[in-house]
Amino acid sequence: MNAKQAAGYRAAEWVEDGMIVGLGTGSTAYYAIEKIGQRVAQGLKIKAIATSNASEELAKKYNIPLIRAAEVERLDLAIDGADEVDTNMALTKGGGGALLREKLVAINSERFIVIADHSKMVPHLGSFKLPIEIVPFCYEWTFGQLQRIYNVPIEMRTRDGELYVTDNGNYIADASFGVISDPGKLSHELKAMTGVVEHGLFVDIAHTVVVGYEDGRTEVIE
Ligand code: A5P
Repeated sequence: MNAKQAAGYRAAEWVEDGMIVGLGTGSTAYYAIEKIGQRVAQGLKIKAIATSNASEELAKKYNIPLIRAAEVERLDLAIDGADEVDTNMALTKGGGGALLREKLVAINSERFIVIADHSKMVPHLGSFKLPIEIVPFCYEWTFGQLQRIYNVPIEMRTRDGELYVTDNGNYIADASFGVISDPGKLSHELKAMTGVVEHGLFVDIAHTVVVGYEDGRTEVIE
């Protein structure tokens, strides 16, 4: 068992019969989905919403019943990974590009459980580049404005030499802030910027963090 698997498997224990569950995205969420899938095979009755096309495929592989968001008002539980977790349980997410759907699912869940291997635990967010999802229309203007306002290195995310396109058809700018001393303030500023759809700061959203270690131990922070 590795650290990501330990965290993912532990979080899957929170899932109970009858729940509507949000499935996260990434290599740690993979393990949570795998464990939930194993429990579904043993008779667990749940319905789920996936935060990315990749996680949707994984859920289908494990026969986890999927529903559309319009079919429910709220989720009971969402389980997802993070790129960084600070001491106040603020997060950086979106390394895998699924931040918009991940945030929508997280804020509409009664409980949002973050799963992370211990390397993700940091005193301050910012070492990991902050993903900022921006609309393709005039994206150069939004990108330029971000550079002017923050004066930190920012790059447009690419894949195979082309601009990276999210599941929602948008682009991502990755910003190297170094240290984000006030994640709440930065979160509000970025949301207020025209052209920015969403960003990877999750402040006051996580209820529980499950930290995994290489020896299979887990630590639960609430
Ligand atoms: C996906 O967009 C991300 O928010 C992931 O949840 C995050 O990058 C963590 O991914 P890993 O579990 O693969 O490290």
